[in-house]
Amino acid sequence: MNAAVLGLQWGDEGKAKIIDSIASDFDTIVRFCGGANAGHTVVSGDSKFIFHLVPSGILHPGKKCVIAGGVNIDPFALVEEIKNLERNGIETKNRLFISFSAFVVLPYHKYQDAYQERTRHIGTTRRGIGPSYTDKIDRVGIRMYDLLQPKILLEKLKFIYNEKKLSFPGIFEKEDISPEPLVEQIIETSKRIIPLLTDTRVMLLESRKKGESILFEGAQGALLDIDFGTYPYVTSSSCTVGGIFSGTGIPPTFLDRVIGVAKCYTTRVGAGPFPTEIVDEKKATRLRERGDEFGSTTGRPRRVGWLDLVALKYACQINGVSELALTKFDVLSGMSSIPVATEYAINGERLANFPENLHIIRRVAPVYRELPGWNDEELLGISGNVLDYIETIERFTGVPVRFISTGAERNNLIRR
Ligand code: IMP
Repeated sequence: MNAAVLGLQWGDEGKAKIIDSIASDFDTIVRFCGGANAGHTVVSGDSKFIFHLVPSGILHPGKKCVIAGGVNIDPFALVEEIKNLERNGIETKNRLFISFSAFVVLPYHKYQDAYQERTRHIGTTRRGIGPSYTDKIDRVGIRMYDLLQPKILLEKLKFIYNEKKLSFPGIFEKEDISPEPLVEQIIETSKRIIPLLTDTRVMLLESRKKGESILFEGAQGALLDIDFGTYPYVTSSSCTVGGIFSGTGIPPTFLDRVIGVAKCYTTRVGAGPFPTEIVDEKKATRLRERGDEFGSTTGRPRRVGWLDLVALKYACQINGVSELALTKFDVLSGMSSIPVATEYAINGERLANFPENLHIIRRVAPVYRELPGWNDEELLGISGNVLDYIETIERFTGVPVRFISTGAERNNLIRR
């Protein structure tokens, strides 16, 4: 059985925790979208690991981990991550496999990202994600296999620089990132990466033939998806289910389970519409601090709000979610009542479906239902008001809730 773990909100749902809890049931764990904009946190005892590119499954001895072609890889960030894992005694040799055809994020993409943010104000992570995916679509991207051909790489970079100089004044004149020194830096860094490059599509097919199972590790979340998210306040990759197939080359028939992950409230980092956002700063601060809602990649405080069932149902539909994993129930424990949005209102009308239109979504008002809160005892027994909350979500989305996370630690997870 192969499974995917996908985020259903604006990222940071706690996917890594769910992946960590089920990784031992699989042979291979695969990242298929995004890049070093992701920050997947796993807490184990006194240790805390934050993964940006390497699948968090690497913490499980003996498991193979793949960074597939749909991921845009910053080679410098990847080598840092590999070194950090090795410092913690986690080997990547013969365990981490990287697609030859993945695209490369280069330092100029980060400069471009920062440059564009001055006027676009999307609130990106500034990891060069948008510009590197733009280059891919624009057919001027560099792929991992180009790292094996320094001469061709230099020619490509010179061509790209000549084109880009006109659009980004000031950036492509920078000495440190001009083609020659950049190629040297890349070649030096990629010594650590080249031995890990392989045809990951063939590798996954072969492991399927042997009867091995695959876990697809999603990054970001449905509402940040380039097609289905709150465009243009989105990331630049396909982080919904379709991204698995375009990002790995394996067919849809390989996927048996889709585990959708959502917090029992909502958060968002960066700009863009957020219908259930808590506008009262005092209340928002309280929830942010209780939930430790600060970005794991950028440290930015996250915007916080209530559970949005309209958006959650939409995310379940797009991804074909077969089971839900709900996280951070401990954060809401002790509240007398909890609002959840069941519809939107706009111009005196009610909307039951999530509108894929920025002009509408930014103007809707959530229609809330107040659900009674729970205490720690009910939480640990999944009884009383916690159970009501979970069953309301199940009725609304039509998807069973299989996992409930009750704390940051690895063992704070209840399976139903
Ligand atoms: P980018 O992916 O850096 O271009 O950022 C675009 C938007 O996606 C911004 O709002 C980011 O904060 C958001 N974003 C990207 N990756 C993540 C993530 O892993 N978690 C939460 N938000 C993210």
